[in-house]
Amino acid sequence: MNHTNTNPTAELLLDGARYSLPILIGSEGERTIDIRQLLDTTGYTVLDNGFKNSASCTSRITYLDGNKGILRYRGYAIEDLAENCTFVEVAYLLLHDELPNQKELDDFRTLLADFALLHEDMIHFFDHFPASAAPMSILSVMVNSLVNFYPEMSNNPCENIDIIACRLISKIRAIAAFSYKMSIGEPLIYPRHDLTYVGNFLNMMFDRPVRPYTVQPEVERALNKLLILHADHEQNCSTSAVRLVGSSGGSLYTSISAGINALAGPLHGGANEAVIHMLEDIHADNNDYMKYINKAKDKNDPFRLSGFGHRVYRTYDPRGTIIREACDEILKTLDLQDPLLEIAKNLEEIVLNDSHFVKRNLYPNVDFYSGIIYRALGIPTTMFTVMFALGRLPGWIAQWKEMHEDKSTKIYRPRQLYIGSTYRPFIPMEERG
Ligand code: MLT
Repeated sequence: MNHTNTNPTAELLLDGARYSLPILIGSEGERTIDIRQLLDTTGYTVLDNGFKNSASCTSRITYLDGNKGILRYRGYAIEDLAENCTFVEVAYLLLHDELPNQKELDDFRTLLADFALLHEDMIHFFDHFPASAAPMSILSVMVNSLVNFYPEMSNNPCENIDIIACRLISKIRAIAAFSYKMSIGEPLIYPRHDLTYVGNFLNMMFDRPVRPYTVQPEVERALNKLLILHADHEQNCSTSAVRLVGSSGGSLYTSISAGINALAGPLHGGANEAVIHMLEDIHADNNDYMKYINKAKDKNDPFRLSGFGHRVYRTYDPRGTIIREACDEILKTLDLQDPLLEIAKNLEEIVLNDSHFVKRNLYPNVDFYSGIIYRALGIPTTMFTVMFALGRLPGWIAQWKEMHEDKSTKIYRPRQLYIGSTYRPFIPMEERG
């Protein structure tokens, strides 16, 4: 399918000259002005801090409409995938552009199982992290180290990519679970071939020699859904970091490690932890959520609500809607009460109706309710962003692979508008004031 129609143009009048810039139209009708020849033909660059107005690439992986609250992976609605698939199915879809048939899925699962173990030498790395080490820091170090243990990244970055992708998707589970076990001083639990991808992760996290863990189907279902909802999100900050490092020829492991570090930021993947800390603070403050609503509205108060708003969505983040419903389901199934959920719902109700927030297009995003489910599953707050990374990994890999397969890809090297000192003669030390 040709997704780019170059017929329409944007006319630019510059210094008395007229330039016709092609307008490209995506498969969902999105339009972008093609400025790839702008500097060479006009001598001008464009300034776009944070790239809010810029498309960094064309992509066939994820489509989202921020005004309509639409999110699709490879054309499939996130609602359908979250309801009907396992995370492994969706990972396959993102990597291969098609939902797997049963044989393809079975083969994919077999590869994931075969790659589940971590090299024993890597396990000793955990002995040398301080107990206070941040799980996302451990994750990025360990993923980056994989290139030393599995150096098969050849000159062709995409050679063996399916094998490398399975290895990484499988091993990141063990890295995450082992870092948790080490942080609480419990023995490591190894992966097992008789468990599913998500079941294995839960077992590695919660099984204990003194009390065997049983993977509950409802818990496994809830975590599959959460990982699916986090699996990709077009050119967000961490995906752009993965593409940027990959564009220099960096290996998949080093590119993913860069993505993990970008995701760790409190303005990105770290927001799910920030939401729980905010809800815990309100709970500790006699559940006085109105006090925090008023603080958020006070321009002289630095406090802002975590888990609301998004760079792209100007309405509900469709993932937030699905997670909110899943919260009620999993708490009811596990017969749990979480006072933080009631606080969250009260905050949402006010934010959706108070003009101060409504005019700022503040809606719950994917991070607002996800922590409630992680808590219900027994996952500690310190691991929430790690869970985001586990979910996002297939999307990062698919984007990295797409970038390398795109013949128009160039090394990411933005320009700037220089506003510093103009030329000035050198001042010897003895003449400096
Ligand atoms: C994500 O899923 O990556 C977050 O919503 C952030 C984003 O898309 O910018």
